[in-house]
Amino acid sequence: MIEGNIVRLRALELADLERVYGWINDREVTRYIAARYPMSRADEERWLKGSSPNSFGGGVQLAIETKDGAHIGNIDLIDVQPEDRKAGLGVMIGDKDYWSNGYGTDAVITILRFAFGEMNLNRVWLHAFDFNERAQASYRKCGFQEEGRLREHYYTEGKYFDSVVMSVLRDEFDALHGIAPAAVGEKAPA
Ligand SMILES: CC(C)(COP(=O)(O)OP(=O)(O)OC[C@H]1O[C@@H](n2cnc3c(N)ncnc32)[C@H](O)[C@@H]1OP(=O)(O)O)[C@@H](O)C(=O)NCCC(=O)NCCS
Repeated sequence: MIEGNIVRLRALELADLERVYGWINDREVTRYIAARYPMSRADEERWLKGSSPNSFGGGVQLAIETKDGAHIGNIDLIDVQPEDRKAGLGVMIGDKDYWSNGYGTDAVITILRFAFGEMNLNRVWLHAFDFNERAQASYRKCGFQEEGRLREHYYTEGKYFDSVVMSVLRDEFDALHGIAPAAVGEKAPA
């Protein structure tokens, strides 16, 4: 378990299948991520079986839980490149009841602390659709900065949208949030 302030990150389990299958087929959720095709239960099960919290190569896929054990979403480090000490980040709070309550921001801060403090990464990057203002606001609070825009990079709902490229470097994150986790019983830096 990787403890955050209001979430913890844990390994995904086969028992999570029905929840993640529901989220990945909920258009209100997937309109914000690059997942436009309906996903079969068998494909989702294959993805879940291949998901792994362990390090380079396969990336890191984790479940986001509230402190009382509700599984509300998933978070990933993808395309982990050991030579460049970098990875891409993906996050989805699939349970819409938990949107805009600080869980996504805490999950991202928690996985960044792990990426920089345990995996010894130096750079974490992501792409967000320009209409996804909530995600960009959350990423800025975590320390991400906008690097530029990929113009008309994504087509959905009959229109082209820009993708916003964002990244955070280890030193920037450390200055803002601290890389070291809080000692047991001590509150993590805000
Ligand atoms: C994006 C996501 C991870 C953010 O997590 P969250 O728990 O909902 O968001 P948080 O509450 O942590 O932070 C969102 C911030 O954006 C702000 N916000 C919400 N809606 C906003 C909007 N339309 N415009 C600007 N800011 C907005 C909130 O006020 C909050 O800031 P505050 O805490 O200073 O008030 C989550 O909403 C999600 O998974 N959405 C669906 C999938 C998705 O978009 N994934 C990311 C793809 S790049």
